[in-house]
Amino acid sequence: MLKLTVLVSGGGTNLQAIIDSIADGRITDTEIVQVISNNPKAYALERAAKAGIPALCISPKSYENRELFHEALLAQIRKADTDLIVLAGFMVVVPPSIIQAYKNRIINIHPSLIPSFCGKGYYGLHVHEAALAKGVKVSGATVHFVDEGTDTGPIILQKAVAVEQGDTPETLQRRIMEQAEWKIMPQAIQLIAHGKVHVRDGRTFIDPD
Ligand code: GAR
Repeated sequence: MLKLTVLVSGGGTNLQAIIDSIADGRITDTEIVQVISNNPKAYALERAAKAGIPALCISPKSYENRELFHEALLAQIRKADTDLIVLAGFMVVVPPSIIQAYKNRIINIHPSLIPSFCGKGYYGLHVHEAALAKGVKVSGATVHFVDEGTDTGPIILQKAVAVEQGDTPETLQRRIMEQAEWKIMPQAIQLIAHGKVHVRDGRTFIDPD
């Protein structure tokens, strides 16, 4: 059984996609052991509670400095015997201490086709604003392992989504969530749960079915 700690900051639609995929069998041999938010108001915490999953907030504001916040986060992740950390819209930079403790055991969903529109400052709606400003005709989403860089870790899955005339950042965000994020995030977890994803030389290799 793969034990997931899901880290969230906001609405939690990707968390919901994981919860639903476990419920309907698209993800098997996997359990969400806890959901942690840095933001006490995150709707994601309610989604977790409704699904009967332990949900808690660890806010940086409750700690004297960043280091103590990071220590508390790592301690809570360890306490639940986590196998895989899933960043599902987690808007906090994960510190090296956690990345080293969970090497190739942290995955993130990013709302573009990496290496486009990623790195520092590219998160949430900003990503879609930048894609529309550039005039790309195709965008999408990426699930990748997290390393010490920002959005630089080995790519696991990507899915392209068409940009349409008249798109706003909001309409593009929604289409990318519906057509890409909510599909490839559960798929990546299912692949990892069944030992099908291998990392070599900064790239992933996925066993065929
Ligand atoms: C998602 O679009 C996710 O890809 C993005 O934040 C949103 C969270 O939505 N993540 C990033 O931008 C990370 N750099 P959700 O809370 O409804 O899952």
